[in-house]
Amino acid sequence: MLTTELRELFNQMTIEEKVGQTIQLSADFFSEETEDITGPMNEMAMTEEKKFQVGSVLGVTGAEKTIKLQKEYMEKHRLSIPLLFMADIIHGDHTIFPIPLGLGATWDPELIKETASISAKEASAQGLHITFSPMVDLVRDPRWGRVLESTGEDKTLNKHYARAFVEGYQGTDLKEDLTKLAACVKHFAGYGAPRGGRDYNSVDLNENTFREHYLPAYQEGIEAGAKLVMTAFNTIDNIPATGNKRLMREILRKEMKFNGVLISDWGAIGELVPHGVAQDNKQAAELALEAGVDIEMMSAAYSEHLVELVKADKNLETLLDETVMNILVLKEELGLFDNPYRGADTETEKTAIFSSENKAVALKAAEKSLVLLENKKALPLNQSEKVVLTGPMKDSHDLLGAWSWKGDKTKTPTLKEAMDHHLGKNTVKVIDETEIFNGAQSFLIAELQEADTVLVALGETSEMSGEATSRTNIQLPKIQIELLKELRKLNKKVVAVLFNGRPLDLSEVTPLVDGLVEAWFPGSKGAEAIVNLLYGVINPSGRLSMTFPRSVGQIPIFYNQDNTGRPSEQGGPADKYLSKYLDSENTPLYPFGYGLSYTTFEYTNLRLSKTEVTSADSIEASVTVRNTGLSEGIETVQLYIRDKVGEVVRPVKELHDFKQIRLKAGESRIVNFTISEDQLRYTHADHTVKSDAGEFLLGIGADSTIELTHSFNLIN
Ligand code: BGC
Repeated sequence: MLTTELRELFNQMTIEEKVGQTIQLSADFFSEETEDITGPMNEMAMTEEKKFQVGSVLGVTGAEKTIKLQKEYMEKHRLSIPLLFMADIIHGDHTIFPIPLGLGATWDPELIKETASISAKEASAQGLHITFSPMVDLVRDPRWGRVLESTGEDKTLNKHYARAFVEGYQGTDLKEDLTKLAACVKHFAGYGAPRGGRDYNSVDLNENTFREHYLPAYQEGIEAGAKLVMTAFNTIDNIPATGNKRLMREILRKEMKFNGVLISDWGAIGELVPHGVAQDNKQAAELALEAGVDIEMMSAAYSEHLVELVKADKNLETLLDETVMNILVLKEELGLFDNPYRGADTETEKTAIFSSENKAVALKAAEKSLVLLENKKALPLNQSEKVVLTGPMKDSHDLLGAWSWKGDKTKTPTLKEAMDHHLGKNTVKVIDETEIFNGAQSFLIAELQEADTVLVALGETSEMSGEATSRTNIQLPKIQIELLKELRKLNKKVVAVLFNGRPLDLSEVTPLVDGLVEAWFPGSKGAEAIVNLLYGVINPSGRLSMTFPRSVGQIPIFYNQDNTGRPSEQGGPADKYLSKYLDSENTPLYPFGYGLSYTTFEYTNLRLSKTEVTSADSIEASVTVRNTGLSEGIETVQLYIRDKVGEVVRPVKELHDFKQIRLKAGESRIVNFTISEDQLRYTHADHTVKSDAGEFLLGIGADSTIELTHSFNLIN
């Protein structure tokens, strides 16, 4: 809504000042350390005068800096229009939570909301207004390094998380609550599906799949109130998203009803030129404005050409006016015209950042993100057993992950430090893995021989996942597999802890270990969380939100695949002409929804309240879950449904709902789900979303491999 005051302000703006609002500069333009900023100034077609007309800044944080800069800006800007401060606060600001793929494994949207709320609290005290999060891109290809930033492969789960992030960052009243940030849903759209898993590559999705699986999480983020959307680097229908008028105007603005600010990704308007859809920056600026991109991040198309373009074309001037209004409205919604410094406060900053309450949530989030992949009676460890710790990550501070620029590694305990803290200093013997290869030293052999368990910390370094880190080989480095082979020879229990940002191919690892813990990059309190899991202080409860393949050759592999005309289950191993591989099973190594606990859960009495449902009523599905083991544990009860016959081919199963429950040893509980017609809708051939009458199969269980044993009918 444009208020009268905003309208008045707008009416006073020159075209140059309007164009200024559409430009975003990075922190290096304002760095006091950099005396000479001629390089970036030239690249961005900036002059000293233009610099003080831009609408937003990327990556400047710290209350003192943001207050000083805002003050200077307001003084130098003819109309005193405040700046927007934006940055990537992705999985924590100073208090770092697990990477989003780890948060995805918590199956706990409320907890994610809490982490986002803490991020907002820390970042807003430093003067930030907007975070470039959440990334809600659906992912099916672990070769792509940015799966680290996604919450996984499933639209239903991603929708819950998208909403949780947005609500956590923004709260209920962005204007009044100065501890909140505006959220930016990214990267619109389909960035999670680059061909071959190669970052920035083109995307080739048919429109039915795009709408049915990829759009829902963006939509949910928008419905949750996200104030911004970021364009993607990739193509959709062979047109780069950033210059794709149909995608942005028809789908995003009209269909999905987004009315906030659309910002380009870094340099993405300029990239329309190398993409080959614009001959130069001028045409790129025109295409992006026509598509409705409001802010240009870090390329010079708008800053160099928009004034000239708009002066020559009335239609473009109207588009520029819309864009500027979107930006002014956002500034107004953040309350910047009344209070340009917003939450920035040097005193609040001191107490808000990395507080013990924030760290407690980081610990909880890390504990819930850990996924126990294997346990052949190896875990939990006994307090008194002799443990030898080895492996390249044994004493590493590199536990924060790729998007943790404000996180302090030196304040992040290593696994060794956390073990020392838990057991007492030097109780755990640490052996350098290189010594194990040298094997000759008898004192080492003796130490290893005395050990009950060898704990080995393995994985990828944080530079191996994140942006621009695609890999064709997603196994552990060869040397780490060799290390496991050496350790296996000792006839000891071997427990591996993995630090990594993507599902790995663990087919060689699994047979070599007795216990396997997927720890991701677990954040500021990650090592403590791992030790709590290893020693049974907590009972593991993480469940994968992305499939782990048997080999890179299976990729893309995801649980909700479409059925084929020749399903492999139809025949035996000797039947050749079925949809399968000659040299691999179709199934993954670890499926979506999977994770072990130290206790066991039994599912019985699956019941449906009736076997027919209409659009006017609903079915109750219930199941009894019993903790049949010896310790209290958390179980994520998952409901999957298959639509047996559709107008277009339907997935073999889809997650529809889930509930997380905590049960004491021996305790049982009836878990209920409600199924109504709106949950059974899908994208038809003409792209309408509706349901079809007919039969559905349903199953409730512990992961996506469960059989769908119960049938019901939707009657129109
Ligand atoms: C990334 C975005 C990020 C932006 C700003 C880009 O390279 O793709 O996700 O928000 O940089 O740092």
